[in-house]
Amino acid sequence: MNKTGLFLSIVVVLTAFFTVYAYAKDTCTEETARINEATNSAAVPMKGKVLVAYFTSPETDGIDASSGASRLIADGKLYGNTEYVATLISQKTGGDLFRIKTEQTYPGTHKGLIEAAKKEIDGNARPRLSTHIRNLQDYDVIFIGFPNWWYDMPMPVYSFFDEYDFTGKTLIPFCTHGGSRFSQAEKTIATLEPGAKMQKGLAVSRNNAGKSETSIQNWLQRLGFGE
Ligand SMILES: Cc1cc2nc3c(=O)[nH]c(=O)nc-3n(C[C@H](O)[C@H](O)[C@H](O)COP(=O)(O)O)c2cc1C
Repeated sequence: MNKTGLFLSIVVVLTAFFTVYAYAKDTCTEETARINEATNSAAVPMKGKVLVAYFTSPETDGIDASSGASRLIADGKLYGNTEYVATLISQKTGGDLFRIKTEQTYPGTHKGLIEAAKKEIDGNARPRLSTHIRNLQDYDVIFIGFPNWWYDMPMPVYSFFDEYDFTGKTLIPFCTHGGSRFSQAEKTIATLEPGAKMQKGLAVSRNNAGKSETSIQNWLQRLGFGE
């Protein structure tokens, strides 16, 4: 290749790179703006019927949440971390609980679950769901909770968003995690449900899930519940 050819190739590659970068940045900024805008406008009382949907996959070979496992015991009952947070949100908002379940069962062991989840993410799978919301039209506010899996939402939560259109509804995410908080999940949800009014979510560390009541209460107040 002569010098002119080389120069033109570099120009083409750089132009392509900056075009893709600018697009990704714009999309990202747009979604962040939507989430922030919603947060800033959330001082008004939150009205309407509430649904608290969540996915959880408690590990049966773990110890308890204080040791970093994906389950905890409260009032003698065994919960997945996300399930526990969902239960508190439902108690405090009066919302109905809805567990997103899959037709297939996930392994209870930590190693097995890690591998199964990785396989699903790598294959961009959409696991079939065995529970369905029959009366979505009755709800105005939908909380959606999940554990962070591989820096993303579990694939059944993608199946969930494929199944429903939340246009006109208020969507409030929450997650439990081992350090990665939401990763990019809030922005992903805003992209998957462009017609929903997104509110700023709550990320609860699995180490604090059993002690999260006060932070949940404060977050709900900021969102306009209990006004
Ligand atoms: C398959 C799998 C992948 C995980 N990946 C992450 C991750 O990328 N980042 C993170 O912070 N935590 C990760 N975790 C930890 C979970 O988010 C955490 O234990 C969560 O509280 C589990 O919630 P659950 O009991 O409701 O299922 C992962 C856990 C599992 C089982």
